[in-house]
Amino acid sequence: MNYKNLLKTKKYKIGIWGTGYIGLSTMVYFSKKNIKCVGFDINKEKVRKINSGIIPLKDLEKWFGFNIKKMVQKGYLKATANPDDLISDKFIVHFIAVPTEKDGKPYYKPLMSVLNNIAKIGDKKIKVPPLIIVESTLAPKVSDKKILPFLKKKKFQIGKNILFSVAPRRDWFIEGVKNLENLDRVYGSTDDHSAKVTKDILSIVCKKLHIATSYKVSEMVKSVENAYRHMDITLANQLSVAFPKDNMREVLKLVGTKWNLETFHPGIGAGGYCIPLSSRYVLSQIKNKNKLTLLRETIKTDDNMGLTIANSIAKKKLKRIGVLGLSYKGDLKVSVLSKVIPLIKSLKKKKLNVKLFDPYFTKEEIKKAVNVETFKFPQQLTKFDCLIVTVNHKQFKVSPGKLKKYLKNCKFIIDHEGAWQNYNLTDKYYLTGASGWL
Ligand SMILES: NC(=O)c1ccc[n+]([C@@H]2O[C@H](COP(=O)([O-])OP(=O)(O)OC[C@H]3O[C@@H](n4cnc5c(N)ncnc54)[C@H](O)[C@@H]3O)[C@@H](O)[C@H]2O)c1
Repeated sequence: MNYKNLLKTKKYKIGIWGTGYIGLSTMVYFSKKNIKCVGFDINKEKVRKINSGIIPLKDLEKWFGFNIKKMVQKGYLKATANPDDLISDKFIVHFIAVPTEKDGKPYYKPLMSVLNNIAKIGDKKIKVPPLIIVESTLAPKVSDKKILPFLKKKKFQIGKNILFSVAPRRDWFIEGVKNLENLDRVYGSTDDHSAKVTKDILSIVCKKLHIATSYKVSEMVKSVENAYRHMDITLANQLSVAFPKDNMREVLKLVGTKWNLETFHPGIGAGGYCIPLSSRYVLSQIKNKNKLTLLRETIKTDDNMGLTIANSIAKKKLKRIGVLGLSYKGDLKVSVLSKVIPLIKSLKKKKLNVKLFDPYFTKEEIKKAVNVETFKFPQQLTKFDCLIVTVNHKQFKVSPGKLKKYLKNCKFIIDHEGAWQNYNLTDKYYLTGASGWL
């Protein structure tokens, strides 16, 4: 049975569980290849928007670089808030793209609820065994400890009447080219048949596939590759904390010119969906505290960066702090695990007066996320004696002349991603990691 050909007949479809960044991009890229996709989401507003041809995540509009309206009109792209719509023998592939983390910890309730829904297929007469591809990030061993035992309990025979693979994602939703089509994709399966079908399906969209010998390997690849990054980023911070009077930013920039090294720069810590969680995902399966101590230290240092910065600002007797940026990355409205959140908490703990501006968030959203007031940018920059520019949102790049006028009361500026590095702001301006920033 060739699943690719079956999908091309348009009698069969792909079901996507969760229509956020990962699920929606899966749907859109397969629809672009004229494959019928139906996404289920518990968020009715997202469902409504997708069915009206509107991309519910604004920042994805630019990333996709194309309109989804035509795909919706042609019937290739559809969303639903009813999980039963995906329970039929017409859905021969199920991508799972629901969250697997909550409050900085692995969290599998949505995943298990999706599996529970998919398991209802067992009640129907099925000619084509459905293939489950997990795109959500899994901690090592979750397939063996949770997913496969659950499917077996529901009387599925893995590799026979249900196929199973783990194919984590690596997309970078800031650069359009780092997408599902172009990025190297790793997948691993429970058996040869599942692996073959997965290859057929993923190759419809992904140009470069790497097969792992099993789902256990592909599952582990995701958290281990990001744990490496977590450690590298945190080493840059530890170096900067150890040598505060030296320009570690420049040292690391030049270190990065070595043929087998990347450039890392010190900063406020690692944020976003993947990196800060990766070490925790790996450690979640290791009870012995004497193992993987490098990752334990990484988490400790990374989580403490906000406090380290707040202590240094308080020592400099700066009192009124303006923070620019809540997102964890520039030009993206994502504050998930943003290191700005613990930074603000630490600044407040030091009894400093903190306000935050981020053009992507309303004053209510800012209040909810970090419980501080916002301010008018750039006019009210005059209120602060210290500014921390955490990301390089385009909106922060006002003309240097205009900016300097509003910085007249500011004595100290920390810039994480270099938004103002070409502005010649003289002795009060410090890139994170530069000599004297801490
Ligand atoms: N965003 C990234 O850059 C990225 C990269 C790689 C991996 N991942 C992983 O992919 C997974 C999804 O991440 P995301 O960024 O798409 O998250 P997201 O929050 O953008 O989207 C998740 C969607 O799932 C929906 N949902 C929640 N519970 C559900 C349920 N029980 N049934 C159906 N839908 C449900 C939510 O309403 C939301 O629309 C996570 O495991 C994440 O770690 C994300």
